[in-house]
Amino acid sequence: MTYRQATYDVRLIQEMRGKSDLTLPPLKREVEVPSNLLRTDLDIPDLEENEVVRHYTNLSQMNFGVDNGFYPLGSCTMKYNPKYADLLASLPAVGEVHPFEDEEGIQGSLSVLYELERSLCAISGMDAVSLQPAAGAQGEFTGMLIARAFHEANGENRTEVIIPDSAHGTNPASAAMAGFDVVVVPTSPSGCVDINALKAAVSERTAAFMITNPNTLGIFEEDIVEIVRTVHGVGGLMYYDGANLNAVMGRTSPGAMDFDIVHFNLHKTFATPHGGGGPGAGPVGVTKKLEPFLPVPRVVREEERYFLDWDRPQSIGKVRSFYGNFAVLVRAYAYILRQGGNGLREVSERAVLNSNYLKSRLTPAFDMPFKQLRKHEFVLSAKKLKDESGIKALDIAKRLLDHGVMAPTVYFPSLVDEALMIEPTETETRETLDRFAETLLSIAKEDPQTVKDAPHNTSVRRIDEVYAAKELVLSYLGLKRKLTGNLEGLRANAAGRKCESCSLILDTK
Ligand SMILES: Cc1ncc(COP(=O)(O)O)c(C=O)c1O
Repeated sequence: MTYRQATYDVRLIQEMRGKSDLTLPPLKREVEVPSNLLRTDLDIPDLEENEVVRHYTNLSQMNFGVDNGFYPLGSCTMKYNPKYADLLASLPAVGEVHPFEDEEGIQGSLSVLYELERSLCAISGMDAVSLQPAAGAQGEFTGMLIARAFHEANGENRTEVIIPDSAHGTNPASAAMAGFDVVVVPTSPSGCVDINALKAAVSERTAAFMITNPNTLGIFEEDIVEIVRTVHGVGGLMYYDGANLNAVMGRTSPGAMDFDIVHFNLHKTFATPHGGGGPGAGPVGVTKKLEPFLPVPRVVREEERYFLDWDRPQSIGKVRSFYGNFAVLVRAYAYILRQGGNGLREVSERAVLNSNYLKSRLTPAFDMPFKQLRKHEFVLSAKKLKDESGIKALDIAKRLLDHGVMAPTVYFPSLVDEALMIEPTETETRETLDRFAETLLSIAKEDPQTVKDAPHNTSVRRIDEVYAAKELVLSYLGLKRKLTGNLEGLRANAAGRKCESCSLILDTK
């Protein structure tokens, strides 16, 4: 398959002018806006509908998403998001409900929240769930605040959270933000937590142990029972990072493993879209003893009536506006109902099968640190290739883009040299997996310079990764302000000016 990403010379929509007044007659204004509230300084372009549609369609064609093609981004579970869930989330009853509406008027919405909480309890083996956090990382932070509140309520001053060195970066960040000292334990040669190191690290200072299981190498922690016993033995709590729940649903659960706190990534496991920083949803589940500390309000049912309970004196308070990211929650609930219990179990089984199939197809050509079977994802190493021909993991990732495949996660987890972390998910066919394996194998044999210069067929070529990560200017407008202070200045200065991070600027006439 030859892949060419579309490239258009797009302008910012604010720069577009030229209304013809031909296609649509103006709408009769139904609401008279009081003149003191009317603003004239917004600079909103007045454009034909077709101009706006073309603008955004062209932009979308210069992008890549799970609706375009295979997206094996490890740890992110970029499974296909079924369209029936989008349809339900865009119903007026969902889209137009206002969070300030009286409880009586939103009984249906509250029942969806309540039932979703119950479903997540059943899936995770927890006793109570709060749907409020808007992302996995916020779920972690919420969980850490709950752990702190719990220990404080027991009159204990526990200051440390233990985390394996294979953990996602948000784990130590969340623990530190909640005021804990982070203690890191190493991974053993088997790819699992070094149980002896853990035993040496626990103490009466241990507030919690945060772990992802299966871990970020895609390996199920072989000593999980002993790990839990060790941490509970010193009075610490077990925190389950549920980002990898897609590997174990219906087979086991954090509750069955005796965890105390869990966060879910609905935007990974429950087929709701990821966004650049949101919208997502990272609900938190806890066991009975931690329920009083969950965020307020709680959705409660008494007989046939649902209401919001704010009267919870031990709660850590509110962590997000209103009740969470409602449209995302509706999608997740729809997905759970449609799959059913057996369906969710099959999701996990297929995700694991796809991952091991792909791993076995790639094993002869790439180093595969840690030899055992994996769960839903696996990490391979491009170190041998780098030593032989100078091709790095990043080069392979960029070259894959030329084939219409999203790059896998690279350089994570950091304990694998030249790591490529691949998660196929359950929604891909064997044909897609075979095509991906053949592409990756052919890249390994390609002329090294072609790979190092990739991507060749995308709308944006290589960007300066370090500059992009350090200069967090996340919008065209932000970059424009940073470079010039205003648009006219940008136009004047753009000619010949090299922007290290964004080809859009270089294309600007
Ligand atoms: C293992 C793991 N934990 C936590 C997170 C954080 O989740 P979020 O991106 O929703 O904040 C991720 C995200 O990729 C992850 O892979």
